[in-house]
Amino acid sequence: MKKKVFVTHMLPGERIHQLSAFCDVNVWLGPGLISASALREELVGCHGVVCLLTDHIDRSLIDTLPQLEFISSMSVGVDHIDVAALNERGIPLGHTPGVLVETTADTTFALLLAAARRISEADRFVRQGEWRRENRWSPDFFTGKDVSGATLGIIGVGAIGQAVARRASAFGMKVLGWNRSPKTVAGIDMVALEQLLECSDFVSLHIPLTDDTRGLLDAHHIALMKPGAVLVNTARGGIVDESALAAALASGALFAAGIDVFDEEPVPENNPLLALPNVVLAPHIGSATTLTRERMADITADNAIAALRGEVMPHCANP
Ligand code: DGY
Repeated sequence: MKKKVFVTHMLPGERIHQLSAFCDVNVWLGPGLISASALREELVGCHGVVCLLTDHIDRSLIDTLPQLEFISSMSVGVDHIDVAALNERGIPLGHTPGVLVETTADTTFALLLAAARRISEADRFVRQGEWRRENRWSPDFFTGKDVSGATLGIIGVGAIGQAVARRASAFGMKVLGWNRSPKTVAGIDMVALEQLLECSDFVSLHIPLTDDTRGLLDAHHIALMKPGAVLVNTARGGIVDESALAAALASGALFAAGIDVFDEEPVPENNPLLALPNVVLAPHIGSATTLTRERMADITADNAIAALRGEVMPHCANP
């Protein structure tokens, strides 16, 4: 009997179409993202799940799936899945590292530059007719922060953090780094977290969201940041205390922020960051180029096919 695999969204690229040679595939066709209750229903009797970072697969759901043999997520981050619950049953979890590194570093730098130079604010000013109405231009008109010569602190100097560091060096920035586990990284001055926060004009987050990193950038750590610094987050919203960040941005303690990820997504209307003019916002699009998303989908398919063949996944998050 063929195994049953549920795919929670249509994926881009060609490779995913090969899945049906190995199993019975059922794909959620929408409209929109699958709800938690529909996911629970669709997964009954499934041996495998191909999912997105928007699908929350927690222990209570995993416990209802005695046949489950693998999950393959089209994401590098796996915080939407209870990895410990999978580990207890020896269930492999596929993810997509590597292919999104440069794309996510580009997004990080786009947000960093946009926040430093107030690009979103300026765009709104022109688009909404304020420029015409006020007939204004002055030497301090939309002045921002210099990037060249500034210090960038990278929290999490893994593959994406290092790709951001390469961009920063090309822009004439000095780079400091911090990792949870002490390790040296060629070309990056590794320092204590407190020192990084105190000395950096820009801080960029590149650590995964885990029990250890949830809320790492809390009110205490935000207060340590250099006055007038800029925070960029393309990692996960849960790493930052969003209320403390919003308060620091509103008071002027921090100059600006570029935020691609939120504790709750889609971000609720009452998130305090949405009301601030000095925050550049994006809807979790760090890896969103056509090519990168196709490459991620291909790896997702490869991981699922390997599991169906009884082989080790090429990219397993819980080996
Ligand atoms: C991931 O894959 O985890 C990223 O957040 C997508 O941009």
